[in-house]
Order: sequence, then structure tokens, then C-alpha cells
Amino acid sequence: MTKVSPSLLAADFLHLDREIQMINHSEADWLHLDVMDGMFVPNISFGFPVLEAVATICQKPLDVHFMIERPERYIAQTAKLGAMMMNVHQEATVHLHRTVQEIHAAGMKAGVTLNPSTPVNTLEDIITDVDMVLLMSVNPGFGGQKFIENTIVKVKRLRQLIADSGSHALIEVDGGVQGETAPRLVEAGVDVLVSGSYVFKATDPEAVIHGLKQL
Ligand code: DX5
Ligand code: ZN
Repeated sequence: MTKVSPSLLAADFLHLDREIQMINHSEADWLHLDVMDGMFVPNISFGFPVLEAVATICQKPLDVHFMIERPERYIAQTAKLGAMMMNVHQEATVHLHRTVQEIHAAGMKAGVTLNPSTPVNTLEDIITDVDMVLLMSVNPGFGGQKFIENTIVKVKRLRQLIADSGSHALIEVDGGVQGETAPRLVEAGVDVLVSGSYVFKATDPEAVIHGLKQL
């Protein structure tokens, strides 16, 4: 069954408590948390004080997506939070292999994220070491953007790379995931759907999550 990881970036920040209770009550598998630094991406979202507060009440595993330069600086702090998955951008860390080993040593699963313009084959030499590949289907930094169509063929290429290498990595896609794009992504081979505005801006977010789970 498809996993769903709603992105808190699209939530009502004035009522985070209520939004997280909704997630706890829903069929969401994980909660996706987007950390931005205004350097790697042209926006700033939230940091550890907010993550720590969220972690105290969220009953779903935390899927943390770092859109920051040199994310390896925050491995220990992320582990302390109790995060299940730490996603780092391939473009933001020079020694990706070391970063992945350190994430594992800290007790978390390691996800590697690719920007829309970064080819899947750059993962050839790391694919058997990672637990997940997060493909960006928009340029990272903002919610509510238009899905980049090339992601579909990229998912298929990644599915092939995973099969050829014997890797157990999951494929997650993030950006513009909604009613029209989600079924096509699952058909192409996606395991985990991240969805922000489609879930949180809906009149019935729990029903939307339920719908995505059926794909
Ligand atoms: C964008 C973030 C996404 C964002 C997705 O940089 O990584 O997780 O919240 O938002 P939607 O689903 O609205 O495109
Ligand atoms: Zn994200």
C-alpha cells in the first residue's frame, strides 16, 4: 500500500496543535517536515524549536527533509528529536557517503534527495547504502508549485536502478502531488507520496489522506 507523508509546510501555523492531532488521527504513515535555511533554497521555513515542539505530540514517524547547506552539521540534533528518517540533498553535502554512514550511526534511516535537475544515475554508487531516495518534483523551497512532468520518467529510471542494484531503497516524491499526479506517480513506481497543500488546504484532510492511501 502507498505510504503517505503529509508536509506540515502547508499547515495552519497558528494552530499546529490541531493540525498534528488531525495527522495523528488520520491514516498518514509519516509526517514530512521541511527545514530550509535561505541559502540552499531561497526560503526559510522552521527549525529545531518548532521540530522539538512537534515531536512531543506527533505520534507518526518523522520524515525530516533538510533543504540546507551541509546538513551533516545537524545529524546529532535530528537524532535527538527522535526522527525516523533524515533526508539530505545530494547537492548540499560534499561527502554524501560519510553523511549517510553518520545518519545510520545516529540511529536514523538515511534518505538522499535529488533536485529536479540532478540525474538519478548520480546515485549509482550509493544506492545500496540508502533507505530512501526523495525525488523533488518541484524546485525545493515553496509549497503549492506545479508538478514537473519529467519526474514520471525519473521515477521509472530510479525504479530500474534500484532493481538492478538489489537496493531496498524506497522512492518518495515531493512537490505538486495531488489528485491528478498521485496515481501516475504510484503507477510509475513511487512508494511514498509527500503532499502539502493538497492535504492541508482540503476541507477534509483526513479523507484526502485516505484517498491517497488507496492508490
Ligand atoms: C517544497 C517542500 C515540500 C512542500 C510540498 O520545497 O519540500 O515538501 O511542502 O508542497 P506541495 O505538496 O504543496 O507541493
Ligand atoms: Zn519536502
